[in-house]
Amino acid sequence: MRQHSNGGLRQTRHLDRKVTQGRSLPLLCTAVQGLHFADLQSMENLFGEELAERAAPVAPYLGGKSQLADEIVRRIGRVSHHAYVEVFFGMGGVFYRRDIKAKIEVINDINGELVCFLRVLRNHPDALLGELEGWVSSRQEFEALKIANTDHMTDIQRAVRFIYLQRLAFGGKVTGQTFGVSKDRPPRFDLAVLSKSLAVAAERLRSVTIENLDWRDLLDRYDDAGVLFYLDPPYWGGEADYGKGIFARADFSEMANRLKMIKGRFVLSLNDRPEVRSLFADFKIEPVSLTYSIASSQSTSANELIISN
Ligand SMILES: C[S@@+](CC[C@H](N)C(=O)[O-])C[C@H]1O[C@@H](n2cnc3c(N)ncnc32)[C@H](O)[C@@H]1O
Repeated sequence: MRQHSNGGLRQTRHLDRKVTQGRSLPLLCTAVQGLHFADLQSMENLFGEELAERAAPVAPYLGGKSQLADEIVRRIGRVSHHAYVEVFFGMGGVFYRRDIKAKIEVINDINGELVCFLRVLRNHPDALLGELEGWVSSRQEFEALKIANTDHMTDIQRAVRFIYLQRLAFGGKVTGQTFGVSKDRPPRFDLAVLSKSLAVAAERLRSVTIENLDWRDLLDRYDDAGVLFYLDPPYWGGEADYGKGIFARADFSEMANRLKMIKGRFVLSLNDRPEVRSLFADFKIEPVSLTYSIASSQSTSANELIISN
């Protein structure tokens, strides 16, 4: 078993997985000392699953779930599932912070450059790291790569371009990127730091299926009993934040209707707006308060909703 920071809990989970095969929960209460029946019930989804090393996303991302992630991870952990499907992956702010690996894991995003980067990271991490050698934080390189035509690039060059721009873009923006500088932080493109986090992320992605589908097609393709979808769509009011024509205001009502029909379970995070509460009123809705900062000097508080079936 790998080394983990919260070794005690993980040891218990490990024991739990091993001793639970074919036994009833009450019997296990005596078998697993120090755990109550309720604890075991809430851990039922862990059976047969593997532990994962928690990691951090490899670049900042607009709408990345850094603050909300632990809260969402806790809720996901309470739902029994053999397949975990993340519909709007972005930089994986929730996925990498999970400490459990489902038997089947699928991640998806409509952004083709992002998905190309994820595939190269998973399939050719050494080649990617090799190609990143020699890159330093530079406004000129940033501007040149931003307007570079990707048509004649190899997938590895496209992946380099993606991660370079994403590491350095102000506010983790994905469209309309500008070179982000800070007076009180070192530049975010430091290969020594980045290579470590890329290596951990590549390892985590090894057995993950990476899709590049519209969210509707992904739900249709993977919905089944035992599947848990995590959805983190663009915010209400920020539908065009990730590019034109990929997500519309009308998608929210379509999402609410489709989620009513699925056989699987879901957890959805969205900003707290009256329209959102009304569209998703048929589901469980929990508000969570957060403080966001886009730059070190600007911070603003916001309320999020965690919606689930
Ligand atoms: C709020 S971000 C996800 C952030 C992510 N949870 C993180 O922590 O980095 C929303 C993502 O949805 C993707 N997206 C937008 N429209 C989509 C669509 N129609 N189908 C699938 N993905 C879409 C965007 O490319 C973007 O990466």
